[in-house]
Amino acid sequence: MKIRDFTEVDLKIPMLPDMEIAATKTAEAMAEYLSFDQEKTDEIKLALIEATLNAFEHSKSSERFVEIKFEASNDELTIKIHDRGKGFDENKVENPDINKKIKADYKRGWGMSLMEQLMDSVEVINDKDGCTIILTKGRE
Ligand SMILES: Nc1ncnc2c1ncn2[C@@H]1O[C@H](COP(=O)(O)OP(=O)(O)OP(=O)(O)O)[C@@H](O)[C@H]1O
Ligand SMILES: [Mg+2]
Repeated sequence: MKIRDFTEVDLKIPMLPDMEIAATKTAEAMAEYLSFDQEKTDEIKLALIEATLNAFEHSKSSERFVEIKFEASNDELTIKIHDRGKGFDENKVENPDINKKIKADYKRGWGMSLMEQLMDSVEVINDKDGCTIILTKGRE
């Protein structure tokens, strides 16, 4: 098969119930294109759901859509999840501790930490256009 260099897919999804599934279907297709195994594919899908739902839920964007860019290089998938909202400081997001969470009333706050565990890298970029989460994972 011909060596692939760079393939890009752009998606724009409305912030509506279940629309994150449109994103995970695309992630699945891109992972298959790159010959990722099922476990890595599932990890990518879960991280992407977390990032997409975070944009839906926390961005406070008046433009109710999320733009997702999938970039496939030879052996790596990069997913950029962009909302036009207020952004956030990732350094201020507390790392959840399971022992404390069990006793605490507030049980949430797992998404960012889950993404970190599932992906090779997670980057947050805030700029005048909004907030972008960059998720990267390699095939090996
Ligand atoms: N796209 C975003 N825009 C603005 N704030 C965000 C965004 N993504 C995350 N955040 C902020 O980071 C915090 C931590 O996100 P994280 O996904 O870890 O937890 P959560 O969404 O609050 O809970 P959970 O994911 O467990 O349901 C959020 O509460 C929110 O304040
Ligand atoms: Mg979350």
